[in-house]
Amino acid sequence: MKALVLAGGSGTRLRPITHTSAKQLIPVANKPVLFYGLEQLRDAGITDIGIIVGDTRAEVMAAVGDGSELGIQVTYIPQDAPLGLAHAVLIARDFLGDDDFCMFLGDNFLLGGVSDFVAEFESSTAAAQILLTEVAEPQFYGVAVLDEAGSVVQMVEKPANPPSNLAVVGVYLFRSVVHDAVRAIEPSARGELEITDAIAWLIAQDLDVRSHLVTGYWKDTGRLEDMLECNRRVLEGIAPDVRGDVDAESQLVGRVVIEEGATIVRSTVRGPAIIGRGTHLEDSYVGPFTSIYHGCTITGTELEHSIILEDCVITGAGRIEDSLLGKSVTVVRSEQVPRAQRLMLGDHSTVSLP
Ligand code: TTP
Repeated sequence: MKALVLAGGSGTRLRPITHTSAKQLIPVANKPVLFYGLEQLRDAGITDIGIIVGDTRAEVMAAVGDGSELGIQVTYIPQDAPLGLAHAVLIARDFLGDDDFCMFLGDNFLLGGVSDFVAEFESSTAAAQILLTEVAEPQFYGVAVLDEAGSVVQMVEKPANPPSNLAVVGVYLFRSVVHDAVRAIEPSARGELEITDAIAWLIAQDLDVRSHLVTGYWKDTGRLEDMLECNRRVLEGIAPDVRGDVDAESQLVGRVVIEEGATIVRSTVRGPAIIGRGTHLEDSYVGPFTSIYHGCTITGTELEHSIILEDCVITGAGRIEDSLLGKSVTVVRSEQVPRAQRLMLGDHSTVSLP
């Protein structure tokens, strides 16, 4: 079995971060969200993995390389424009051949892995198997309707009147007949080849589409709040580990990870939290559910429930909460007069002033 991991897309909901960076590489507890999926596929015994890449291909390719560090072999499949999940299957035909495959959305996070799901599919004769989970607002998801035996009888994309509360999770298993489906369907009203339409086509051919209910934690990390929630869930499970330098005037409380080369000076870190390698924290407070990535310098600032990407400089910034800062962002308190907020923000940035 092969895997097709989707790491293209436009990521409009995470602008401005996605103007320049791949959302699939935003770190969750200091590991790119994409890597969790790749590791779970490997743990399910799937090592031959195609990755769909778009505008951010250089960054994804630099991060994942040939996959050997993760114990997988990666083939990159460039997608010229984000024309839909089924379009990704269409252009991956040569890579996939006639093999069964697992399609995994690169910004989806699933606790507990995919091994059970893959084994169940391998021992079945179904044409496809999808993961479903109960959600409170099915109108924002692909939604499935099941018969009593658990086979999928209907699929609808973001329905105004949802026929069930079972949302499609971004992990799918297909046999090669899906290639006929993605060739048969037409683009939707939003101009994309929808995977829900391809699955509906399989159902219309009287092929068996099985379902598997996910009861564990799953998140589509497409928005800021989802990213922060996912980060919170992973940090809840971390074990304390101090590999950096913590001076005598600093305090680590609860489950805190200090990566190698990080320096903590006259600061308090209250876990669960993780401070990345080479990051310097001085006269600062880091509160629960915060992940600070590599090479940041944080001075005289309080940070809580936030994700900070690499090489940020934050100085005297007061208290920052519920925030996501992109790479090399600078936030400083200035003594200049007039005392005004001076901003240089990228397109689609959000600033919430107290
Ligand atoms: P989405 O999050 O559904 O789409 P998007 O990335 O365009 O984001 P937004 O809605 O915020 O604009 O995509 C799910 C995953 O699939 C994500 O990792 C991006 C990837 N993807 C592709 O690789 N190619 C595509 O054509 C599409 C639509 C998505």
